[in-house]
Amino acid sequence: MIFNKILIDWFSVHKRELPWRKTKNPYLIWLSEIILQQTQIKQGLPYYEAFVSKFPTVNTLANAEESVVLKLWQGLGYYSRARNLHFSAKYILNELQGEFPKTYKELLNLKGVGDYTASAIASICYNEATAVVDGNVYRVLSRYFNIDTPINSTKGIKEFKALAQQLLPKTNIGDYNQAIMEFGAVQCKPANPNCNECPLQNSCKAFELDKINLLPVKLKKTKVSKKFFNFLVFLSNDGKTIIEQRTEKGIWKNLYQFPLIESEKSLTIDELKSHSEIKALLNGNTYELSLYNNNAIIHKLSHQHLHTKFWIIETHKLPKESIPKSKIRQYPVPILIGNFIEQFNF
Ligand code: ADE
Ligand code: SF4
Repeated sequence: MIFNKILIDWFSVHKRELPWRKTKNPYLIWLSEIILQQTQIKQGLPYYEAFVSKFPTVNTLANAEESVVLKLWQGLGYYSRARNLHFSAKYILNELQGEFPKTYKELLNLKGVGDYTASAIASICYNEATAVVDGNVYRVLSRYFNIDTPINSTKGIKEFKALAQQLLPKTNIGDYNQAIMEFGAVQCKPANPNCNECPLQNSCKAFELDKINLLPVKLKKTKVSKKFFNFLVFLSNDGKTIIEQRTEKGIWKNLYQFPLIESEKSLTIDELKSHSEIKALLNGNTYELSLYNNNAIIHKLSHQHLHTKFWIIETHKLPKESIPKSKIRQYPVPILIGNFIEQFNF
């Protein structure tokens, strides 16, 4: 039997029942694929359900406030995915008269949709012959064919896409694409793949050569940098606090946060008190300063580790525009701050 046939047969037996596998509605497939890009199915599932129930159509998503979309996304990370979904929904409604693009090429015009997502939607919804290549596919192909080109190199990206494209069956492209991804997720897993009960075992090169743990090959990432964040949690006598929207580019764009002082190193209470930014902010006001978490919380992002301290500042007069504390849960915030808000019992 050939490679693609074996995978399709395996999929028909082993596939997990998931809500997006019961539909070919391109909006729902788009939503599920964006959610699943950097997220495990188990973590993504409740978010998918929440989005479908709040925004059942592309028009309802387009007509939402961005902060409502970000709030629903809170905790999933990589927030540009949510901003791009919302932006593209508005684009579909306003520029494409609400009609979802129907080809790989047109799908690529949507912000946040790259080769992977366009291939997934085009094949699943329209049976277009475009191969998906996600982390699972890289792993299955590199092992089965013993390919050691780094999967995150320009050469590797081209090579694996071309191979995946060649392997497509003549029919049921969408099922095959999902089969190979599911096979990577469930059977040919990163650690301890289930080679002993694998329908591809007798033709798998990595198995034959005992190279399973050496594949796929990945180029080393750039070094992770350390940052030191000091969030200022203001509390006034009349029950108010300060939060601000982040407007600068970056992962947390348009989310809200407590006023932030970034420092070169971890600050002690005295160092924070004499910091120029806090002096400028409080400018002679009397205030009580205390540290909420004695050990910095280390929030790990892909290229940065954020060493974070939450400082409580009690004062009569707040130095900036403020909100009632009771409203704070309405704002979309990075999960680092969301967790603090829960613990602190605002
Ligand atoms: N991972 C992300 N999308 C998937 C899909 N459609 N099928 C299997 N695994 C996936
Ligand atoms: Fe993956 Fe092992 Fe099967 Fe090869 S034999 S495809 S390495 S699970």
